[in-house]
Amino acid sequence: MSSSQTSSPLAQDITLPCGVTLPNRFGKSAMTEGLADAQDNPTDKHQALYGTWSDGGCGLHITGNVMIDRRYLERAGNVVLEDDRAMPMLQQWAQAGTRGGNHLWMQISHPGRQCPKLVNSNPMSPSDVQLNMLGNFGKPVPMSEADIEDVITRFATTATLAKQAGFTGVQLHCAHGYLISQFLSPKTNQRTDQWGGSLENRARLARRAVQAVRAAVGAEFPVAVKLNSADFQKGGFSLEDCVTVARWLSEDGIDLLEVSGGTYEQLSLMGVESTEVRESTRKREAYFIEYAEAIKQAAQVPLMITGGFRSRKVMENAIEDGEIDLVGLARPLCTQPDLPRKLIEKKVDFADSYEDSLVLGTGFWGHNSPLSLIKGINSFGPVGFYYWQIIRLAEGLVPQTDLGVLRAFFRHLANDFKLTMRRKKQAG
Ligand SMILES: Cc1cc2nc3c(=O)[nH]c(=O)nc-3n(C[C@H](O)[C@H](O)[C@H](O)COP(=O)(O)O)c2cc1C
Repeated sequence: MSSSQTSSPLAQDITLPCGVTLPNRFGKSAMTEGLADAQDNPTDKHQALYGTWSDGGCGLHITGNVMIDRRYLERAGNVVLEDDRAMPMLQQWAQAGTRGGNHLWMQISHPGRQCPKLVNSNPMSPSDVQLNMLGNFGKPVPMSEADIEDVITRFATTATLAKQAGFTGVQLHCAHGYLISQFLSPKTNQRTDQWGGSLENRARLARRAVQAVRAAVGAEFPVAVKLNSADFQKGGFSLEDCVTVARWLSEDGIDLLEVSGGTYEQLSLMGVESTEVRESTRKREAYFIEYAEAIKQAAQVPLMITGGFRSRKVMENAIEDGEIDLVGLARPLCTQPDLPRKLIEKKVDFADSYEDSLVLGTGFWGHNSPLSLIKGINSFGPVGFYYWQIIRLAEGLVPQTDLGVLRAFFRHLANDFKLTMRRKKQAG
């Protein structure tokens, strides 16, 4: 390598509190793959996909959310890890996904109320606050004390199995409106017992799950958390809450905090406009970076911010200025799996970006259309676009970047339906 290639701050390694060193400053953020078989086990497509990603030069890869409980999925096609029945396939996935010398951490998750009706019409949540999105989600059953303790045990079990399979770390999904995030938010957590009310009570599940995972995997294994900077909804989890929870989680011994934001109802994680998001946030490239300083000061753990990073300069500056420790990237790696290497070697200045073209139009046809179907297409069509690229990478094909938002939306619906029905048929 020439000196200009080695001088990028993005190429620096970083040692985490547990003693593990990540080779550079890129973290591939979790992206649900939808590639599991009808019994929720990983397949050779996971190996192919993560092998390709591992060759791309990113120092840390985080898998799409792996479910801790077969009864509750984020979508059909999720991998479930409750026991060792698929250990050989998991091992092969871990091997392929680390062949480039990078880390591969498993994101472990429970969807809570964000479990589609076709998977389970009676999801669980802290309270019975239903997610109202095109009738896709059932009314949740408030969790009993035993349900909560079971979830904590399950997080620890899944983390242990991930370690056993050769994954080099785990990340607990505490963001984006999934179960732990539902507990954190006063909007979805209306409990009056020790799991609701004060921030201390709302954060109890996150902390107990982290502590249980840490106890299960030992002091030298990376344990991370993905947390919302805020839900960006009135009465939801706030930045102030985030700063306090970040501090508590660092006291509980996490090695990396990844910060994102939003929920299904408020897709700020994808940079979709919202009235609750500040104008300055909306305009800038990395949506959540303005919160980095406050969070970093409180947490004192390595910080990865994810959401909207697209140019090398912004990434380099964020690392050089010490604002963050890792640059989180998701969507760009669906169309450019070797982007981290190209950025480190200064072969490109920008990630290819398709977000602006993945919307039906403006005004009536835009993100704030009064018609919920159009809003749905503009929110989930882009997601469908990236799901499709993931499927293509997993099949050894090149990305198909000319896929329009409408086709992506309907293809995603059809694929989701197919995966759900296949799973139901298997279950009998
Ligand atoms: C196709 C797709 C799947 C995703 N799946 C997950 C997931 O399983 N877990 C998670 O925490 N975030 C998930 N996300 C959110 C990303 O990790 C990331 O926070 C978001 O895309 C913003 O980063 P970006 O601007 O670099 O894409 C997903 C995003 C996309 C596009």
